[in-house]
Amino acid sequence: MTKFRFFIACLALLTLVATSAFAGVNWRRGHYLFKHNCRTCHIAGGSAKALSPVSNTRAQWDRFIETNKHQVKPEVWQKLSDKDIKGLKLLLEKYSAYSPQPATCG
Ligand code: HEC
Repeated sequence: MTKFRFFIACLALLTLVATSAFAGVNWRRGHYLFKHNCRTCHIAGGSAKALSPVSNTRAQWDRFIETNKHQVKPEVWQKLSDKDIKGLKLLLEKYSAYSPQPATCG
């Protein structure tokens, strides 16, 4: 019986850890999205100008995400979930121009 209780306790703990790990959104989600979605167009020789997190300052990215929302092609933005947008915001802010670690995102 004690073994069984221990097993249940372990199971409960595992479930808690697993669900909390997936609930949080971090910049890595944005990184994946940027590389596999945004970069399909925003790359040298692509259908739109090449873009990287470092292409804009934090304020410019915030304005783009909160106000502009990809007005030129709204369908691009409509496909994104709230979590996608949050991840993207974290990525773009983290590596924006004048941030402590400006970067091009691979
Ligand atoms: C289907 C192609 C396509 C995809 C996918 C795409 N864009 Fe664009 N984007 C465009 C075009 C076309 C323009 C306008 C021309 C240009 O800026 O080169 C544009 C413009 C922009 C601009 C400039 C906006 C402005 O008003 O000056 C930003 C910033 C931008 N896109 C960010 C993104 C981000 C972030 C993603 C990924 C979530 C993304 N785009 C995905 C095609 C795309």
